[in-house]
Amino acid sequence: MQFDKPATINPIDRLKVVGQPTRRIDGPLKTTGRATYAYEWHAPDIDYAYGYPVGSAIAKGHVTSIDTKAARRAPGVLGVVTTLDVGDLPKGEKNTAKLFGGSEIQHYHQAIALVVAETFEQARAAAALVNVSYAAETGAFDLRDAMPDAQTPDPSTEPESAFGDFEAAFSAAPVTLDAEYTTPDQSHSMIEPHASIAIWDDDAVTVWTSSQMIDWWRSDLAITLGIDKDKLRLMSPFIGGGFGGKLFLRADALLAALASREVGRPVKVTLPRPMVPNNTTHRPATIQRIRIGAAPDGRITAMAHESWSGDLPGGGPEVAVMQTRLLYAGANRMTAMKLATLDLPEGNAMRAPGEAPGLMALEIAMDEMAEKLGMDPVAFRIANDTQVDPEHPERPFSYRDLIGCLERGAETFGWDNRPAPGTRREGNWMIGMGVAAAFRNNLVVPSGARVRLDDRGIITVETDMTDIGTGSYTIIAQTAAEMMGVDIDQVEVKLGDSRFPVSAGSGGQFGANSATSGVYAACVKLREAVASKLGFNSTDAVFENGEVRSGNRAVLLAQAAGDDGLVGEDTMEWGDLTEAHQQSTFGAHFVEVGVDVATGETRIRRMLAVCAAGRILNPITARSQVIGATTMGVGGALSEELVDKRYGLFVNHDLALYEVPVHADIPHQQVIFMDETDPYSSPMKAKGIGELGLCGLSAAIANAIYNATGIRVRDYPITLDKLIGELPEVA
Ligand code: MOS
Repeated sequence: MQFDKPATINPIDRLKVVGQPTRRIDGPLKTTGRATYAYEWHAPDIDYAYGYPVGSAIAKGHVTSIDTKAARRAPGVLGVVTTLDVGDLPKGEKNTAKLFGGSEIQHYHQAIALVVAETFEQARAAAALVNVSYAAETGAFDLRDAMPDAQTPDPSTEPESAFGDFEAAFSAAPVTLDAEYTTPDQSHSMIEPHASIAIWDDDAVTVWTSSQMIDWWRSDLAITLGIDKDKLRLMSPFIGGGFGGKLFLRADALLAALASREVGRPVKVTLPRPMVPNNTTHRPATIQRIRIGAAPDGRITAMAHESWSGDLPGGGPEVAVMQTRLLYAGANRMTAMKLATLDLPEGNAMRAPGEAPGLMALEIAMDEMAEKLGMDPVAFRIANDTQVDPEHPERPFSYRDLIGCLERGAETFGWDNRPAPGTRREGNWMIGMGVAAAFRNNLVVPSGARVRLDDRGIITVETDMTDIGTGSYTIIAQTAAEMMGVDIDQVEVKLGDSRFPVSAGSGGQFGANSATSGVYAACVKLREAVASKLGFNSTDAVFENGEVRSGNRAVLLAQAAGDDGLVGEDTMEWGDLTEAHQQSTFGAHFVEVGVDVATGETRIRRMLAVCAAGRILNPITARSQVIGATTMGVGGALSEELVDKRYGLFVNHDLALYEVPVHADIPHQQVIFMDETDPYSSPMKAKGIGELGLCGLSAAIANAIYNATGIRVRDYPITLDKLIGELPEVA
């Protein structure tokens, strides 16, 4: 099906199942331990061997030799696969860093060997006996140091934009801001580490893994193994979080496949937690310069956003300026990105890549500008709303209610009671409130599904879509139930198997809207098959209450299916609606913090996110996405930072030292969804919500800390040491 005209009324609009607060249908499997995560897949007749990886102890250079004699003699060892033995392997298309093979080392903890043994403990013990020699080279690890040599990245990343005359307008503006903001390297820190099981059968291999994107992984793994894609089955039915860290093929899957072929046994591999941050990808640090000029009435006349980030050779920039091209009005503007070469682990997508760090900077800058103008920061943002793409004024937004989010949030949160900076005290706590806008684009990606109807009246959906904890199983079941006119418990959903039609996968907050649209398209096909079998006109057949009606005839779906059942399969393709209209999601974050006047410790007191993201397919799972994302934003504001890059190693590479917030850190979170639909987005009229909640949240905390203390910190995370020197003297 091609979606190339705005959606009109369709069966989804009945909202009997879609839009309802449905608890996740995979919940019982997860809470009873029966969900088959990658490393936990158990089949009674499989004789697993266990692989334990060895990571490089240098950041740059070459491996000169790997002595495996002692490891091979250790108890239980079945074999050792080394990067020198396998030699250079073809690299897949999606990764920047090489995953395994050859002597070159590009980053710390790059996989260089895998020891396979009868048990996990034997493999781990033997891995410590592998003796590696290196020829190390000097690397570049610090963005600030590398900044002078940063280059304009590849044109495909759209590194620059300009509209009007920024320089002239900025120098003419009566009120201006010119400030620098920095964001650190961050780690995804998902609960489930990367894990895979590989089983060969003759020349074909089956891999269970933890992947957000089944087809991307399958293609790249087939290339690297040098096998036909048809000989590789990839499965990822349950995933314990990803956040972008599982978008692209990772070393555990490749190592499991290579080792299983070598030892002739099924092999399980997980990255030990301390290898995850350095072996995989991370959100790269940024240095951002923002300049804003405004008229005394608060209208922005000039806006510039420049961002520097680093990556391995061949990598791309953190696209932190993108939202600044779209979020606020202003006739004269420019954005630019610069990319430095760093020998750190690969920088890549982490939840809301671009917007997350970009808004951490931009939304502090907006707070600073409002103060310079003597305006309320909510009013300042409203004054600079735009209903068209500011760089291409002929392009309207498909639907944009940023103003509604700000106004609703201000009223709900009690924004009118915001104190003047540094004036509200409760005992040792300095209290403040902050606001920030949220913004994230809404992407659409082709997505396929197959839907079967059987003689029990059960609808079975098959698609290689993944559920990374987001609720895909549930919203897909809701979609199929609505389309076919059955209860949700009449629907079975099967996900994450490369034998199913290729879907959008889970990424870029495009999964929910795109994948349910694919299910919609397949259900349209199935409805046609049912109607045609019964001799009904498919346009006036009504699917409701487990039956299909046309005129005065009504037939149970189970009966219509017959012994052989019926199948509909299709892929939702997208026309050019995203070109004529800009599709984005919007929101407003409000935060109240307390800062300890003696220690500088910041505690969140309450948070509110108001989100405008088209139709909300399931208010329970959508709310979970937003509270998860805002929790992540608290980490970004207060604690998360991969540190100490002297040797190119992130030293806080475990969950004890890399600090992420938990429930106790955030006593009260509220989420409000604006009641809206966007007919330009899809037949579902929904948009992405998975990343929006993170966008802007950290800046709202920074602004609340400023309001509490009068101290402006422009360098994340806002740790105690950045506040304590400027706190008032305590009697
Ligand atoms: Mo997202 S960073 O595309 O998983």
